[in-house]
Amino acid sequence: MAEKTLNDLFYETLRDIYYAERKILKSLPKMARAAQSEKLKNAFQKHRDETEGQVERLQQVFEIIGKNARAKTCPAIDGIVEEAEEIMEDFKGTPALDAGLLAAAQAVEHYEISRYGTLATWARELGLKDVVKLLEQTLAEESKTDETLTKIAETAVNQAAQKKAA
Ligand SMILES: [Fe+2]
Repeated sequence: MAEKTLNDLFYETLRDIYYAERKILKSLPKMARAAQSEKLKNAFQKHRDETEGQVERLQQVFEIIGKNARAKTCPAIDGIVEEAEEIMEDFKGTPALDAGLLAAAQAVEHYEISRYGTLATWARELGLKDVVKLLEQTLAEESKTDETLTKIAETAVNQAAQKKAA
């Protein structure tokens, strides 16, 4: 059996994030429906649309490297999404629901940022310039989403604090 290389690792990790993006694409509308704050609903909807583009970018990457776009089950994202579903169930109708959804969404973003950061580094090492560009575009979107979620979280926290002070 031939020794596995960084090329193989890159392909396997690409399949992992491809699975993750498609899973998130299905999960975001549910999270948008569950969210109580309009801001949070909008953020989830916007990111759902962005995620469609991210899936397409990954398909372009598979094409550039001449491999099949075949997803590989990613237990990490399955677990994160499962936890988000638990929060939706357990905190339904409570004031803490949005805080829980925010935390779950940020866990998703941080997972993706970690994956895309690694993939972009490997693509650079492998001399795949066009691939680096595509991955970095997505990485920038994920980071921006993470920042937006942080802002929403801080606003919500401030509001809660103000209520307490009043
Ligand atoms: Fe994504």
